[in-house]
Amino acid sequence: MTDTTTEDVVVYEVVDRIAWVKFNRPDKRNAQSPTLNRRMAEVLDELEFRDDVGVLVLTGEGSAWSAGMDLKEYFRESATKGLEGTRRAQRAAYRWWEQLRWYRKPTIAMVNGWCFGGAYGPLYACDIAVAADEAKFGLSEINWGILPGGGATKVATNLMSARKAMYHAMMGENLDGQQAAAQGLVTESVPLAQLKDRVTEIANVLLKKNPVALKATKDAVRRVIEMTYDNAEDYLIRAQEAADSFDPDGRKEGMKQFLDDKTYKPGLGAYDTSKQKS
Ligand code: COA
Repeated sequence: MTDTTTEDVVVYEVVDRIAWVKFNRPDKRNAQSPTLNRRMAEVLDELEFRDDVGVLVLTGEGSAWSAGMDLKEYFRESATKGLEGTRRAQRAAYRWWEQLRWYRKPTIAMVNGWCFGGAYGPLYACDIAVAADEAKFGLSEINWGILPGGGATKVATNLMSARKAMYHAMMGENLDGQQAAAQGLVTESVPLAQLKDRVTEIANVLLKKNPVALKATKDAVRRVIEMTYDNAEDYLIRAQEAADSFDPDGRKEGMKQFLDDKTYKPGLGAYDTSKQKS
């Protein structure tokens, strides 16, 4: 099933339960303007609870994933409206990045090209990030005279070693997809010609998993990073019990198909969720 919506700066289509969402300002290297940020929040809202969407992929039209914040519209023009202009522009961006970090559906960043500065917010927000070897990643802020704000410094320190993050932030040099994968910025990198196939393959694996367990898992990974071991242990007990209350039959069905029906092995793949009662 396919349905397509086009509204300028962000476009999306839903194909076989995968929502392909695109930054769509290729002539501006998909820089994030306030208009783009507001529209992206609307698109994420539109897709989040749709039953025909199981996975969301975020990618870019043209040669860029996103060249970060729009220096003209996000920085310069917002600043002419004083503190209010700056804060409004920040909120429009941070709002959808936060929504994406805690999105109900699993999310994949398909990084097809340039990925700079403010693009690290949505990059980090996606659960899995697959880059093209040909993509280029950089904290270019230092090259035009500011620090990597909007969470970008935090993204680098969360994902990279302290030594690599410091070098990355101070030097303003770029990493290609393979280097970004080696340094932890993305999950993996493949040649651009294989990028969409690889992302589709990952999405199709995710589509077969229990969606309640997936949401609980992705939230748990993000939450426990900031917890002590004891707090994490406690949180995980409570998170699983909360997931059980939304999905009382999931784990029972998973155990039944393994222990009684012997139709699959959890070590080798997911149980058949279509046979689940609720
Ligand atoms: N903000 C505003 N405009 C941007 C932009 C950004 N972040 N990135 C690209 N553009 C615009 C350019 O100004 C240019 O506009 P124009 O055609 O009206 O002159 C257009 O997009 C194409 O950019 P160009 O630089 O010619 O493309 P390129 O393919 O040669 O280079 C980049 C691509 C990404 C290396 C380069 O555009 C760049 O360095 N962008 C800024 C990246 C950055 O520092 N982002 C961090 C912001 S936090």
